[in-house]
Amino acid sequence: MHPLDPLLRNNRAWSEKIRQENPDFFPTLSRQQAPTYLWIGCSDSRVPANEICGLLPGEVFVHRNVANIVVHSDLNCLSVMQYAVDVLKVAHIIVCGHYGCGGVRATLLEQKFGLIDNWLRHVQDVMNKHRPHLTCIADSAARVDRLCEFNVIDQTISAAQTTIVQSAWERGQPLALHGWCYGLDDGLVRQIGIDISSPDELKQAIATDWEKNTISLYEPEASP
Ligand code: CO
Repeated sequence: MHPLDPLLRNNRAWSEKIRQENPDFFPTLSRQQAPTYLWIGCSDSRVPANEICGLLPGEVFVHRNVANIVVHSDLNCLSVMQYAVDVLKVAHIIVCGHYGCGGVRATLLEQKFGLIDNWLRHVQDVMNKHRPHLTCIADSAARVDRLCEFNVIDQTISAAQTTIVQSAWERGQPLALHGWCYGLDDGLVRQIGIDISSPDELKQAIATDWEKNTISLYEPEASP
């Protein structure tokens, strides 16, 4: 048996199940996609956008990289954003980090892995901004989680500052950005309090002292 055989078997079963429930599903989707959301998340295998949010193929446009970073020189991320906003006209951009992120932990512990260390310099920039605050957190796992949140905040602001989002707002296109952090140990998303849908809200987010917000203590509302 080929090592990839189980995956192909799963794929056939999955396709069959969806077609039985809705014979038009794939033919309709193959003609067009009209997702409402753009997801910018970590590449971590435990944080798959569709599964976490219960979304079907066609419902979320996805960009993932290590530590969910948005930098203005990354043509890959910018191209995904530009296509999602200008062509697909998504209404929401979700920047989703996750607690216990390996990229964030490596940055805090100053671990060296090679080429990726250069990419993680962007998380180091976030860490340096909050160094005294982070040093005061005794528990090392909590320190990683806190930096995961600060990283989401900075990357959400960075996404809002792109020419893509700025131009969308200038022409009056509704577009909101949201910062989330996902818990690997309970499968729950935390909204961490950063939601930006206009230049004024962006200014406000930049002016906010995020160290004063006890974001980690936020508990998701119990489901009804
Ligand atoms: Co990660």
